[in-house]
Amino acid sequence: MKNTIIITGGAGFIGSHVVRLFVNKYPEYHIINVDKLTYAGNLANLKDVEDKPNYTFVRADICDFDTIYALMQREHVDGIIHLAAESHVDRSIKDPFTFAKTNVMGTLSLLQAAKLYWESLPEGYEGKRFYHISTDEVYGALEMTHPEGIQPPFSTKASSGQHHLAYGELFFTEDLKYQPHSPYSAAKASSDHFVRAYHDTYGLPTIVTNCSNNYGPYQFPEKLIPLFINNIRHRRPLPVYGKGENVRDWLYVEDHARAIDVIFHRGTIAETYNIGGFNEWKNIDIIRVLINTVDRLLGRPEGADMDLITYVTDRAGHDLRYAIDSSKLQRELGWEPSLQFEEGIEKTVRWYLDHQDWMDNVTSGDYQKYYDEMYKNR
Ligand code: NAD
Ligand code: TYD
Repeated sequence: MKNTIIITGGAGFIGSHVVRLFVNKYPEYHIINVDKLTYAGNLANLKDVEDKPNYTFVRADICDFDTIYALMQREHVDGIIHLAAESHVDRSIKDPFTFAKTNVMGTLSLLQAAKLYWESLPEGYEGKRFYHISTDEVYGALEMTHPEGIQPPFSTKASSGQHHLAYGELFFTEDLKYQPHSPYSAAKASSDHFVRAYHDTYGLPTIVTNCSNNYGPYQFPEKLIPLFINNIRHRRPLPVYGKGENVRDWLYVEDHARAIDVIFHRGTIAETYNIGGFNEWKNIDIIRVLINTVDRLLGRPEGADMDLITYVTDRAGHDLRYAIDSSKLQRELGWEPSLQFEEGIEKTVRWYLDHQDWMDNVTSGDYQKYYDEMYKNR
């Protein structure tokens, strides 16, 4: 049984949901959240679990090999679930070096620490696991052969309305060649290669998963959905890149966290699993849903804020379409997304509207000053 687990990036968006799930579901495990607390890391995301006896927070940079190695030895770590990364494409275009450092060198530092520590144990790699969380963006971009939409061949959730239609015949499958375009996805692709190389060269028990776009509570409001919900609320312009025709495949974050739980415990070593909800949407269609939902929940006439839509210069190298085939995960491990998109969006919009204090805190950056002060002498 893997019972002392490091979760990296646990103070971020997805990581906080994974930490919460593991801390609550496995009281017999010791969950160690290792996070540097960059602008994206916020301990307020974990307020409800911070006092649990099976939870420890360690502020550390994953690039700091000595600290990670010492932590693994001291805590007898059996498993690593690695989410820490620089994650925003627009930032990667402005500052690619930080992305290479954290996403590539940080992952390498974790791999090497795990290898050295586990190799030093009498049981070696027995019962150990290094689980690397990656993105579908490593596969590049798919063509949009059906811009008006077609019915996907194996949608699990296809039901109401045109928004469940897919826009091309191809999906990202696990055997697809990597073709990253942004510095973010190039750095993630590189880290994925290092993880697989550590398995193939040293036998490290690794697993890689590639997931589609996540949405839900606690996402930093630089990403499309929380940024736009907050802007609609305050009647600020909504900067739509290009024509808003780009397609993303959206998964509710708690469904991703559940998939991580299933794969960490039952996934096959050295395998790759794609994670996604067969839920492709054009950006502009999501934006219209967000406007209608925010307006309705705030008691404004539905659609009153459509004039906030502002078309701006496209993102450089903007990938046209992502669509992930997660049928291997569904078939082999029985995981399925639990939420319909309409339900997930409604929950998400409600959460952001009900947590304006959280939003104000992250947008002002006050929590960062607090951490800098708190951790100054440690
Ligand atoms: P996020 O930006 O919200 O959180 C990243 C976390 O990592 C933050 O808490 C940050 O403080 C921490 N971190 C950054 N650099 C660090 C370092 N050097 N050392 C230690 N901690 C550091 O990201 P997210 O959206 O939660 O994504 C988590 C992971 O999931 C990433 O690896 C990302 O590539 C992957 N992923 C994200 C999505 C998505 O839609 N958000 C989809 C698929 C995969
Ligand atoms: P984002 O949330 O940054 O995720 P990713 O780039 O990883 O897919 O963006 C989702 C989509 O929304 C993407 O096609 C870019 C687009 N977008 C905008 O049109 N305007 C914005 O202000 C942002 C942040 C994103």
